[in-house]
Amino acid sequence: MAVDQDRLMEFLGRFVTDLGATMAAGSVVVGHRLGLYRALADSPATPAELADRTGTDPRYVAEWLAGQAAGGYVRHDASTGSYSMTEEQAFALADPNGPNLPAAFVLALGTLRAEPRITEAFRTGGGVGWHEHHPDVFTGTEAFFRPGYTANLVPSWLPALDGVVAKLKAGGRVADVGCGLGTSSVLLAKAYPASTIVGSDYHERSIDLARKHAAEAGVTDRTSFEVASAQTFTGSGYDLVTAFDCLHDMGDPLGAARHIREALTPVGTWLIVEPNAGDTVADNLNPVGRMYYSASTFLCVPNGLSQPGGYALGAQAGENAIRQLTTDAGFTRFRRAAETPFNLIYEVRP
Ligand SMILES: C[S@@+](CC[C@H](N)C(=O)[O-])C[C@H]1O[C@@H](n2cnc3c(N)ncnc32)[C@H](O)[C@@H]1O
Repeated sequence: MAVDQDRLMEFLGRFVTDLGATMAAGSVVVGHRLGLYRALADSPATPAELADRTGTDPRYVAEWLAGQAAGGYVRHDASTGSYSMTEEQAFALADPNGPNLPAAFVLALGTLRAEPRITEAFRTGGGVGWHEHHPDVFTGTEAFFRPGYTANLVPSWLPALDGVVAKLKAGGRVADVGCGLGTSSVLLAKAYPASTIVGSDYHERSIDLARKHAAEAGVTDRTSFEVASAQTFTGSGYDLVTAFDCLHDMGDPLGAARHIREALTPVGTWLIVEPNAGDTVADNLNPVGRMYYSASTFLCVPNGLSQPGGYALGAQAGENAIRQLTTDAGFTRFRRAAETPFNLIYEVRP
């Protein structure tokens, strides 16, 4: 078999881009933590000026800026030696009300710290629980997901569900399972002050942070949190159960689905938010699929395999698999209610 030089060069080009992005990931996190993006977004700067503005070392900042410019994350003016950010770069990387893209790199770096354990898990078939990961996984996930939930949950996802907004306005009972750091619970509590929200997650450290976030948001009168799995959370007669980006992580999603059905009123609604995915591997061979399959290899599948149940849906489960699961659990109605480039939103009813 002869190596085709053109195809080889094309593949090497892809490799250089990927390796550059991988090596740059740490720099994105450094720039985020030290406020380098925010300070550069304020106004153009030379390395010395940016270092001065941020209380950092100019030699490090010079190297960092050059790498950022090479990657297209900032602009470089060769005539003055200064750097700047376009409106778009500033919005994506530095605006507190923007998509907070550096948080995704916090999540990625935190995730990759588990590589030795994941390599070993490939050999043994054993699991690695969500709780066993570096804390940056939890805070990075929250910070990366929050802008999407803020932009979509109250303005578009809940209104896409049949009759749910009216119930929440009047004062509904909500269970937010696998709630992580409680972002979705707090958004619901702020938008619907007459409702009560019970957030739960099996991960104690996440629940501690969820309680803290609810206190900071001033919604403790209508929120409570418990350390409990989606298969065991307490309470019944819920008008709405929500599961944000967690069903595919569970070792027993069928057990969770059955428990959720029992916890809902007969006319209640289960809102499932899952990663956007097609039904087959071939459907997902694109950049979003690559990101999700890779994260799933380190986070979702190992967590599923660490729990009783035997399922490991993974982050690219697709609509058919989720529909089948809810049907197996006894739900009779299933509908895709909304979608974004990153998420599919399902309405499931008894
Ligand atoms: C990707 S995070 C999503 C967290 C949060 N819902 C969000 O959207 O920001 C997945 C969450 O599922 C939780 N989880 C995993 N297995 C669980 C289970 N069996 N029961 C409840 N929560 C679980 C993890 O602890 C983690 O908080």
